[in-house]
Amino acid sequence: MNVVMIGTGYVGLVSGACFADFGADVMCVDIDPGKIERLRRGEIPIYEPGLDELVARNAGAGRLSFTTDLAAAVREADLVFIAVGTPSRHGDGHADLSYVYAAARQVAEHLTGYTAIVDKSTVPVGTARQVGRIVREVNPQADFDVASNPEFLREGAAIGDFMRPDRVVLGVESPRAEALLRELYRPLNLIETPIVVTGLETAELIKYAANAFLATKISFINEMAQLCEHVGGDVHDVARGIGLDGRIGRKFLHPGPGYGGSCFPKDTLALIRMAQEAGTPSRIVEAVVEVNAAQKARMVLKIRQALGGSEAGKTIAVLGLTFKPNTDDMREAPALAILPPLLDRGAHIRAHDPKGMPEARSLLPSAIDYCDDPYSTLDGADALVLLTEWNEYRGLDLDQVRARMTGRVVVDLRNVYDPAHMTARGFEYHCIGRVD
Ligand code: UGA
Repeated sequence: MNVVMIGTGYVGLVSGACFADFGADVMCVDIDPGKIERLRRGEIPIYEPGLDELVARNAGAGRLSFTTDLAAAVREADLVFIAVGTPSRHGDGHADLSYVYAAARQVAEHLTGYTAIVDKSTVPVGTARQVGRIVREVNPQADFDVASNPEFLREGAAIGDFMRPDRVVLGVESPRAEALLRELYRPLNLIETPIVVTGLETAELIKYAANAFLATKISFINEMAQLCEHVGGDVHDVARGIGLDGRIGRKFLHPGPGYGGSCFPKDTLALIRMAQEAGTPSRIVEAVVEVNAAQKARMVLKIRQALGGSEAGKTIAVLGLTFKPNTDDMREAPALAILPPLLDRGAHIRAHDPKGMPEARSLLPSAIDYCDDPYSTLDGADALVLLTEWNEYRGLDLDQVRARMTGRVVVDLRNVYDPAHMTARGFEYHCIGRVD
């Protein structure tokens, strides 16, 4: 089966490599010749555990290749996936679909034989149908169907999520497109992966509903954490106590500095806009977004209070900058909302992140001192703020931490350390939703 993947961003590259691993012949297309050249040399533009090895293995086996020649790739294709970016449009929160529609136009010009054109990017309800209209307009003779096959992979765990998904969602309108997609995903039958077959609009909505629901769980537990701090409770026990109810589920109930990343913030905003335009505003998702912004602001206050009411003139060592561990992605990272106000009020910030520092340098104010390793970050610090729960921060030698710091304040915004243990080691320990 010949598969074309348009867009070698996060979703496109991971999906392309994984489909090749399933046994398909995959051609990844991008308009950026430099990127394609680097991919051909085996250089992976993003950090994702296992991706370099997967790309190398499948490229070596001749099942995965990279090109800028969309025309030639599309002519041979049974399935063309559109996996280009859909950033938030400036100002109004709508997803910017110009790349998707441009890809649809180009694909339309080069179709030969029957082809299924599948949206893999997260796109607002109605996009697949619009892609169909565009293709028909550009190439009225074309023999094609459109489909929607949203992706549910997490950065940092993307390959495992793709290879062992909880479900595959296929939004289709024709048995022919459905059969092609089922054939592509056939290796997943071995692990009895449920395939949810729906219409186009439903599949598109499932993606937004899933992300908005997960974001809701996070904002909910962050509110409960705040309540715990005021009434005296432990949010981890609350999460476990409710999560063991199978109807609620234990996952995604970990409190933190607010969700970030390239998906939840963008997708919740897009869903809010879609619902408003449909005349059925989603008051729940609107509240989720507000609570998330408030959570980030609350973290600034938490750090300030931990420092005795003012950060002016204080040195803060920040461990972790990316929106979550195992990625170099800084998009919508809580660090972007939390660190600038501290700098504005006169804090001196030293920071470390295993993968995120190059991107952080371009996004955060230049006053931050970046350090080569976690321990040197702590030199002379009045406070340590743990912002992202990278594994290497979990096992820090606390005696060394204590010795390097000038102060004793630890603000753990991911609740990775044990409060009693930290207090016993002589730290003034602050975390989220647990009263010491
Ligand atoms: C998310 C979804 O989990 C994927 O299923 C989806 O495919 C993806 O968006 C997408 O739409 O492409 P991702 O953004 O990679 O994946 O990251 P998550 O692991 O979901 O984390 C998102 C944010 O929520 C992070 O900032 C994380 O720290 C935070 N989070 C997550 C919490 O604060 N608490 C939790 O319990 C879980």
